[in-house]
Amino acid sequence: MTAPPGPGRDTVASLTTAEKAALCLGSDFWHTAAVDRLGIERIRLSDGPHGLRVQPAEGDHVGISGSLPATCFPTASALGASWDVDLIGEVGAAIGLEARAQDVAVVLGPGVNIKRSPLCGRNFEYLSEDPHLSGRLGAALVAGIQSQDVGASVKHFAANNQETDRLRVSADVDERTLREIYLPAFEHVVTTARPWTVMCAYNRVNGVHASQDRWLLTEVLREQWGFDGLVVSDWGAVHDRVAALAAGLDLEMPPDLGVSDAAIVDAVASGALDETVLDTAVARVLRLVERSRARRPADIDVDAHHALARRAAARSIVLLKNDDEVLPLTAGRVCVVGAFARTPRYQGAGSSQVHPTRVDTALDELRRARPDLTFAAGFDLTDPGRDAALADEAVAVARDADVVVAFLGLPSGDESEGFDRTSMDLPASQTALLDRLLDGSAPVVVVLANGSAVLVTPWHERAAAVVECWLGGQAAGGAIADVLTGAVNPSGRLSETLPLRLQDVPSHLNFPGEEGHVRYGEGVFVGYRGFDAADLPVAYPFGHGLSYTRFHHADLSVATTGSHDTGDLAITARLTVTNTGAVAGREVVQLYVGAPPGRVARPPRELRGFTTVDLEPGDSADVELILGSRDLAYWSTAHARWVVEPGPFTFEVGASSRDIRLRATVHVDATPPRTPLDGTSTLQEWLADPDGAAAIRAAAGTGDDGRPTGVLGDPELLEVIGNFPLTTLAAFPGLGITHELVRSLTGRSS
Ligand code: BGC
Repeated sequence: MTAPPGPGRDTVASLTTAEKAALCLGSDFWHTAAVDRLGIERIRLSDGPHGLRVQPAEGDHVGISGSLPATCFPTASALGASWDVDLIGEVGAAIGLEARAQDVAVVLGPGVNIKRSPLCGRNFEYLSEDPHLSGRLGAALVAGIQSQDVGASVKHFAANNQETDRLRVSADVDERTLREIYLPAFEHVVTTARPWTVMCAYNRVNGVHASQDRWLLTEVLREQWGFDGLVVSDWGAVHDRVAALAAGLDLEMPPDLGVSDAAIVDAVASGALDETVLDTAVARVLRLVERSRARRPADIDVDAHHALARRAAARSIVLLKNDDEVLPLTAGRVCVVGAFARTPRYQGAGSSQVHPTRVDTALDELRRARPDLTFAAGFDLTDPGRDAALADEAVAVARDADVVVAFLGLPSGDESEGFDRTSMDLPASQTALLDRLLDGSAPVVVVLANGSAVLVTPWHERAAAVVECWLGGQAAGGAIADVLTGAVNPSGRLSETLPLRLQDVPSHLNFPGEEGHVRYGEGVFVGYRGFDAADLPVAYPFGHGLSYTRFHHADLSVATTGSHDTGDLAITARLTVTNTGAVAGREVVQLYVGAPPGRVARPPRELRGFTTVDLEPGDSADVELILGSRDLAYWSTAHARWVVEPGPFTFEVGASSRDIRLRATVHVDATPPRTPLDGTSTLQEWLADPDGAAAIRAAAGTGDDGRPTGVLGDPELLEVIGNFPLTTLAAFPGLGITHELVRSLTGRSS
């Protein structure tokens, strides 16, 4: 381990072991430790990720109580649907500015864990089921926060994809799946946005607590990705402080005072812990403190941040369906139904819960545009006993309307940090009410508020429009009004698949695991990768989202320069997008790559590039997306590295993963690594290798007729026993594979 450069080095030498140990723990729930005699200040860390949750006193950790007001921006589930790196960068900068105003040095976010199952209780804090998208959006948030000289903490590293048994469960996941699905978002954030800190997860990964996993925290994070910041524990993730330190965990939060510091001091005294390991961690803590000195106080324009929250929420709204262009709302009588219109659900529960500076309601905001609208709650958010009467009233009020807008969603008790859901259904009282509204003559627009995906079957077929708003933050009400009235043309896209049935979800049979283990049995086939591989129908695919205008994609060209083998392969995809509708709009161009059949099973398509383009009606824009070798590669467990196999790769451009508009196939040359051959290699493996085949054919020799002897000259037999290791075949008589031959090929003595 090498210590990072910086001002910490000299200071480290002047610290006592006890002071060093103290610096590697917090001093309280939210602060690092100070060393007054050396002028080392303490700094404050605060949640995160979609707004600040600063608890000025000790606080209650996961409660909202006592936290200072801050702008509640859209949650990650919403921001993920914006596919908008610039906008997320702006949100990050605003959070960073608020951090400066509240004397926060490090914001605990973003969370870039993959949505492995729609049941994960914390999905509202995560961006996507896709690592490419999560990585790009997560990096934008980090860059935005850090543009204010405030640190970010990308979390929860790694494989924290459920809440069930979250402090102990072992995510049993093979390395290829880790490298291709669960790590790349972290990798991208770390290598491009250089977060000041990374927060380790609570759970175990393949049996080892993330906080004590040297492979994860040191080999992968620092040695392979070049991370030069500080690793902080999730709150309470450390079980053995000395083992965690040795694994690369620098700062334990909250501190286990009197226990962890004593354990460190004792371990150094006994020689169980090399003091240089402690010094390295201390230097990282000091560097973090030093970095945060650049932070200046700031004043917040609360109105401007609210306006940004509204813009971001509007960008995050996904128009799933819009039959007969029922939206945007035109003239006619509008009836709003649903308690969420008046009492919005706009954020999730747990450590990310923000005390908002204000909260818009969709009802008030819609009334500004349509003062004559009627409203009925339809259901009660706290007292189900009132639901039947409220439903009757709503159905009666809706009878006079030309269009009904039904605000449905998950009650706050249904999803939270700390537990997973057991179903994807909306509450029965809401779907029963909806059925009655759908039986009426007026078209019904369903507006959804939920952090994790909900089932839209079967009712979505009868709804005229479905508008997914996620948990859109404190300004969601205004944003929803903007989209419903057409002031904003929706451009959000699903960052996760909406299945027809929970049972179809690839992780379903392996979620949330049992007896302390959750097996990631679906491997790399997470989300749309799995739905596509199984060719399963879905309600709405990954990447889907409608607009009030239409876009035409044309003229895809894919050109390559350089080569994979020389390390400079660049693949440039170009196309033209035209707004063929009547209003201005924004298209999210998505580029998917499909690999040729090869040594490992690959998903049919994987998102490898995306960009947004704003177009006036009739206007066109040229779009260019550039990919590299890594975008074609899989992680080979056998070779412990990324591998590109040669062959025809498919490049698909679409408006969603299932609305592919253009396709090009390009042959890519690459020399895949050769598998070392020995006696345990099969005959087929020997024959598949050019040098191996030549050697074995030469050694086995030919008969009088010039044909190979033994099994090499018998294609049918070769088919049957070609997958036997060479040493096994040597024991079978008459095949022409002798022990002498094996010895001569492998250089083995026996
Ligand atoms: C959560 C983290 C959070 C921390 C501090 C933990 O329970 O998992 O995401 O940052 O608490 O509140």
